[in-house]
Amino acid sequence: MTANEGRAVRHAEAARSGAPGWVAAADRIEALLAAMTLSEKVGQVVQRNLGEENIPRELAAALREGRVGSILNAVGAELTNELQRVALEESRLGIPLLVGRDVIHGFRTVFPIPLGQAATWDPEGVRAWARIAALEAAGAGVNWTFAPTVDIGRDPRWGRVAEGLGEDPYLASGLAAALVRGFQDHDLAAPGSIAACVKHFAGYGAVEAGRDYAAASIPEAELRDVHLPPFEAAIGAGAGAVMTAFTALNGVPATANDFLLRTVLREEWGFDGVVVSDWRSIPELVPHGVATDEADAAALAALAGVDMDMAGGAYAAHLERLVREGRVPEARLDAMVRAVLRMKARLGLFDDPYTDPSRFPSPGCDRHLEAAREAATRSAVLLKNDGVLPLDARRLSRVAVIGPLADDGYEQLGTWVFDGDPGLSRTPLAALRAALEPGVRVDFVRAIETTRSLDTTGIPTAAEAAARADVAILFVGEESILSGEAHSRADIRLPGAQERLVRAVAGTGTPVAVVLMTGRPLALAAVADVVDALLCAWHPGTMGGPAIADLLLGRATPSGKLPATFPRMTGQVPLYYAHPNTGRPPRADGFTPMEQLPPRAPQHSAGYVSFHLDAGAGPLFPFGHGLSYTRFEYADIRAEPAELTPDGRITISAEIRNAGERPGDEVVQLYVRDRVASVTRPVRELKGFRRVSLEPGERRRVSFELTAAALTFHGRELRPVAEPGAFHAWIGGSVRAEPRVSFELVES
Ligand code: BGC
Repeated sequence: MTANEGRAVRHAEAARSGAPGWVAAADRIEALLAAMTLSEKVGQVVQRNLGEENIPRELAAALREGRVGSILNAVGAELTNELQRVALEESRLGIPLLVGRDVIHGFRTVFPIPLGQAATWDPEGVRAWARIAALEAAGAGVNWTFAPTVDIGRDPRWGRVAEGLGEDPYLASGLAAALVRGFQDHDLAAPGSIAACVKHFAGYGAVEAGRDYAAASIPEAELRDVHLPPFEAAIGAGAGAVMTAFTALNGVPATANDFLLRTVLREEWGFDGVVVSDWRSIPELVPHGVATDEADAAALAALAGVDMDMAGGAYAAHLERLVREGRVPEARLDAMVRAVLRMKARLGLFDDPYTDPSRFPSPGCDRHLEAAREAATRSAVLLKNDGVLPLDARRLSRVAVIGPLADDGYEQLGTWVFDGDPGLSRTPLAALRAALEPGVRVDFVRAIETTRSLDTTGIPTAAEAAARADVAILFVGEESILSGEAHSRADIRLPGAQERLVRAVAGTGTPVAVVLMTGRPLALAAVADVVDALLCAWHPGTMGGPAIADLLLGRATPSGKLPATFPRMTGQVPLYYAHPNTGRPPRADGFTPMEQLPPRAPQHSAGYVSFHLDAGAGPLFPFGHGLSYTRFEYADIRAEPAELTPDGRITISAEIRNAGERPGDEVVQLYVRDRVASVTRPVRELKGFRRVSLEPGERRRVSFELTAAALTFHGRELRPVAEPGAFHAWIGGSVRAEPRVSFELVES
C-alpha cells in the first residue's frame, strides 16, 4: 500500500467511525484522488437512476466496486441509508453517495409551482418554503435537489415556464438566490441542508416556438443581459451544482458547450461546484448531430466541462478508455472527480452520510401545511374584479361551485411532484364548504371530467346550478400534465370545452368568479370579458383550497403580481414587457384593428406601427399586474440627487398610500428606461421591488437605491457598460406604473 492509499484507507476508517475534522477537506480529496484507480475515478462521475424501492444486485455490485458516485431517484431513509452503507462499508475507498432528486416545489408538502411562487415577489417567503422542502427531503435521505430552475420564460407555450421564475431576469435572480439559500441554508453540512442545482444552463427557456427540446438561438448580448443573470445570482448564493440544458444554444448543445461551461461558468464566474448533465443529455449529443457515437459524446462532454453523467451511461461505458487513449486528459478527469468530492465534503457526507428522519419535522406536519397555505395565498393574482369579490358570506344562501379543478387534490399540485402526497391536499370545494355557514347551500357540478375534455354534456347542468345560485365560482385551467417537461402547447387558451363552460355559466346572469389553476400564462381573451372576476391561483399545491377560500371570502386579500405577461392570444407570443421600443412603437390611437378596417381599405389604413391586426398591441394582463381588495395610490416620485455618478448612488422613491378600506400588501415596483444608448434598450426594466403591508389610510415612502452597476448592459463590444445619459424611472404596482421621474447618469 502506498502512503496515499494508506491515507485514503484511514480516511475511509475515519468516515466510518464518524471522526469529524480528521483531515482538512482539500487534503482528504487529494488523498482520495491519489489512491483511486482510473475505474474508481470514473465511478465518481457516474450518476445512476434507481427509481425503485430495492437495490438491484447489479447496482450493489457497482457500488462495491466504486463504479457509482451518485444515485438519483432513491427516496426513503431506509433505502438511502442502505445505499450509503454499501458505498461506505463495502467499497474499497468508502466514498459516500450524492443522492439526487427533483425537489422542485416541495416534497411531501407541496407549495405552489415555482411560477406561482414567483408571483409572490417575496424572496424571504420563497426561501422559507424551500427550507421546508429541504427538511422533508433530507429526512428521506436526499442530499441534492435538481432545483432551482431559473430559465427565463418568455414563451408560455413552453410547458416548463411552470418550473421557472417568470420572464424577468431581475425578479428571477432575486428569487433564485433565495431558493438556493432555502435549500442549502447557511451551512451545507448542517442537517436538513441539501445541495441546490441551478438549471438548465443555459438558454433553454428560448426554445423555438416554445416547443420543448427545440433549438434556442440567442444573441450573446441578450444571453448575458437576460438569460444568464439568474444563474449567476444562484451561483453567487452558493449553489453547489449546475445542470446543463438539453438544448443546443446557437448551434452548440449545452452539454458540449465549452463557451457556457468553461468560459462563462468556470472562468468568468469562478464556479467550482459540480456540473451535471441533464438526463441522458450526453448520449443525446449523437442525435443532436455533433457526436459520431456515444464515446465521442462522452469525450465532447468531458472536454467541455460536464463533471457528471446523469443516467446517460456514456461516462461509465467509455470514459476510462478515452483517458487511456489520451483523448480526455487524466487531469481533466481528476478535475471532474475533485468537483464531485468537494461537493460531498461540503455536504459533510464524509463525516455522516446517513439520515435520521426523527431529527426532522415530520413531512406534512401542521407547520408545513400552514406555510403552504401562506404561499398559496400570496401567490394568487387577482387579474380582474368588477366588485364581485370578496364574496359577502352573510349575503349568500346558495353557491354554485363548478368545474374540473374545484375538487381534485391531485391536479392542484402541479408538475414535478414525485413525492407530493395528494392525500394531504385540501381542495377548494372542501375548504369552501368548511368556511361557509352551515346554512349556505353549496351545489357542486364538475361539468367536465378533465380540463382537456371536449364532452359538453355536463355544461347545461352547470348552467342550471349557476342560474339557481347567488354566485357561481368556476374552477378551470389546466390539469398538471398540461405543463412541465415535454408538455408544451401550441394554443394556450383554456383547453377542452372550458371556454364554452365559462360562457354558458356567465350567460345565466349570475355573478361569476373564475379561479384559474394553471402551469402557464393563458390566453384568456375569450372569457375575461364575460366574467366578473378572475383569480389566477396557478397550481397552488397542497393547501390551495383553504388559501383560495380565504381569498374568495375576503379573509385574506390578494397580493400576488404577475411574474409573466398574459397575452390576449397565443399568436402574440413571445410577448414580454422588456422589449425594445422599435422605430414604430404602437400608440393607443396609432392603429386600426382588423374589424374596423373598411372593405378595400387602402394600404396605409391600419397604421404603420408594431401591432397585430387581430390582437392589437398589448397583453391582456401585463407583467407585475395584480389587483387587491384595497387600492394603492402612488405619488411624489423623486430621484435624489438628480445625477448619478459612476461611483455614486441615487435614491428613487415614491409615496404609496392605502386608499381603500382594508389592510393589504402591495408589491412596489421600480422600472427604469435608458433613453438613448448605443444599442436599442428595453422600454422598461425592473430594477427593484418590495412587498409592503399598509393599513387603510396609511402612507409610506418607499425608496430604492441605484448605482451605475444596475444600469449596465452588454453593448456593441459585448462588454458590460453603463452609458451616460438620461434615464426615466417609474414606481408603481405593475409595469404600467405611472409617476415618472428623470435622472442623468454622468461621466464623473
Ligand atoms: C429534466 C431535469 C430533471 C431530470 C431528473 C430531466 O428530464 O429535464 O429538469 O432534473 O430529468 O429528473
